[in-house]
Amino acid sequence: MADIIDTAKEPERAIERACTVLAEGEPVAIPTETVYGLAADATNPDAISRIYEMKGRPRFNPLISHVSDMAMAEAHVSFDPVSRRLAEAFWPGPLTLILPQRADSTVHALASAGLDTLGVRMPDGFSRRVIARFGRPLAAPSANTSGKISPTSAAHVDADLGGKLKLILDAGPAEIGLESTIIKVDGEAIRLLRPGGLDAAEIERLLDRPVERPETAGATIEAPGMLASHYAPGAAVRLDAVDVRPEEALVRFGGDRIAGEEQATIVLDLSPSGNLREAAANLFDYMKRADASGARTIAFGPIPSGGLGEAIIDRLQRAAAPRE
Ligand code: TXA
Ligand code: MG
Repeated sequence: MADIIDTAKEPERAIERACTVLAEGEPVAIPTETVYGLAADATNPDAISRIYEMKGRPRFNPLISHVSDMAMAEAHVSFDPVSRRLAEAFWPGPLTLILPQRADSTVHALASAGLDTLGVRMPDGFSRRVIARFGRPLAAPSANTSGKISPTSAAHVDADLGGKLKLILDAGPAEIGLESTIIKVDGEAIRLLRPGGLDAAEIERLLDRPVERPETAGATIEAPGMLASHYAPGAAVRLDAVDVRPEEALVRFGGDRIAGEEQATIVLDLSPSGNLREAAANLFDYMKRADASGARTIAFGPIPSGGLGEAIIDRLQRAAAPRE
């Protein structure tokens, strides 16, 4: 059974215990502002193997290395000028940059799945304090069994991986609720490998240049972890529902009723006032609640496509994709 430490009540004990467990080569579940991460010492191959083992994750998926400051990032990757501007503007925050790994970087090849690039992110919130104290980057995917919905609370992590973990740090619900936006600067091109918690339009505004979207929402060579079927609840998923059918749960947006909702197993509204940030923060928790309602299918009402709607719709399309 995992020990769960409340970071607001016992910050010092949380940091110390996390660093001790990490130094033993064991993963620790840590709160980031996007989702909870399953973190391990990125320089220790045994510790990284334990992450893959716990998640049941295909080994070819590279992991994001999380850093506490620019000096730590610069010890492991080389920044081009555009990536540096993005880091300065949006770190700490929900942005992952794919950058060339330095020859003298000690991040182990298991974390990068043998690629010559590293995904790097400086997270906000309590996890950053843990990394600063630990003094080395932490490799961390979302703290869920591979293919399942990402956890946005310590209780989500505990329900899924609590039996395998030694320690979960609980900092309350994740503020953003969607994984980071992944960007790779490729010569002149700024490529969006995964829409996420940072609205790509904010990047376009800062740089005054367009961000290139992937051609499909499915797997790309650049982000091998982006399998089409992902974020899957147990129930089937139906998108853009304009009515509710028998044995369905309903997750809608924006406060408007949907025909037949009185027969739904549960009705949840991601944001009654139509706020996409609020909807992002609620998305994974509501998916889990709808799933637990005993529905055969979860029907999602339409979501507007602007701003964070892009990342929300991406996750919903993956949840609805045919399962392997
Ligand atoms: O918000 C987040 O990003 C969370 C928190 C814990 O930081 N982490 C997360 O990690 O979502 P994960 O492992 O679920 O997703 C990492 C994604 C994968 O799609 C992987 O393919 C991509 O990052 N990635 C990592 N390193 C890469 C690299 N060198 N080149 C291309 N894609 C990479
Ligand atoms: Mg994940």
